[in-house]
Amino acid sequence: MKFSDWLTYIQQRTETALDAVLPAANVAPDRLHEAMRYAALGGGKRVRALLAHAAGSLTHARPEQLDRAACAVELIHAYSLVHDDLPCMDDDKLRRGKPTVHVEYDEATALLVGDALQTLAFQVLAEYSVSTTASGQIEVIRLLAEAAGSRGMAGGQAIDVAAAGKELTREELEFMHLRKTGALIRAALLIGARAGEGVSEDRRRRLDQYAKRVGLLYQVVDDILDAESDTATLGKTAGKDAAQDKPTYVSVLGLQEARRFAEELLAEANDTLAPLGERGARLREMADFIAHRAF
Ligand code: IPE
Ligand code: IPE
Ligand code: MG
Ligand code: MG
Ligand code: MG
Repeated sequence: MKFSDWLTYIQQRTETALDAVLPAANVAPDRLHEAMRYAALGGGKRVRALLAHAAGSLTHARPEQLDRAACAVELIHAYSLVHDDLPCMDDDKLRRGKPTVHVEYDEATALLVGDALQTLAFQVLAEYSVSTTASGQIEVIRLLAEAAGSRGMAGGQAIDVAAAGKELTREELEFMHLRKTGALIRAALLIGARAGEGVSEDRRRRLDQYAKRVGLLYQVVDDILDAESDTATLGKTAGKDAAQDKPTYVSVLGLQEARRFAEELLAEANDTLAPLGERGARLREMADFIAHRAF
């Protein structure tokens, strides 16, 4: 399948899978369920879902297993965006081309939407198998919990909030980005691979290397887009990082050097995949998509 067709195909599968696990909007408490659906459905590039499926192709995982993995990771991601947009964090009004959850609903609802999406992600993994073995399933749950928690995404967000108005060294910036965005991207890939047959230690190491490069690349490009794109294209307010005086790859390296670094990360990610040959094709296409996306 051509990459662009595969992209649409996985995006649609993910939408269907999310729709199926989210409570209907007319189930009490209606307003909370409606807001959860508002946050999780009908938008987003579904990059983490795509990465889970791409990694699964490395290990011949079944698409239904990967849908569950994709769903759990996208639920955590949707929760993270709802909380990231709150007034106490980035105070954003626009997300995926729509008013943010606390604007469309209210702050208390947005807080609870995040809580409920996060727990739903783990409920999905408790109810539906991603791995074919019980120990594999526990490993999947552990990978997701670790990525979302204080040593992963939540930790990265804590550093991000504390860093506003401060300068970070390049090392500190990388430490933050690997956590706030990289950790969940890495989890999407490792969980996707866990859904299929076992991988050799060498392959797992390569996938992990790729995951770390691509996870960092994702946020470097997000920083670049925030600085050089516009609100209509992004579907979220452009120029927010500079307005809030956040340290980013653009503020630390400058736009040109940040772009160069993104290309370097892309090349490194693809280098780690080289020995995988054709099996790594989707992962290579995904790295390219992440590096060169417009929003
Ligand atoms: C935005 O994520 C927040 C970051 C972690 C950079 P995405 O760019 O993946 O957002 P959606 O899901 O496509 O809206
Ligand atoms: C968000 O980073 C990372 C998480 C949500 C964990 P940003 O704050 O840069 O994301 P955007 O730019 O609002 O999408
Ligand atoms: Mg933020
Ligand atoms: Mg933000
Ligand atoms: Mg950003």
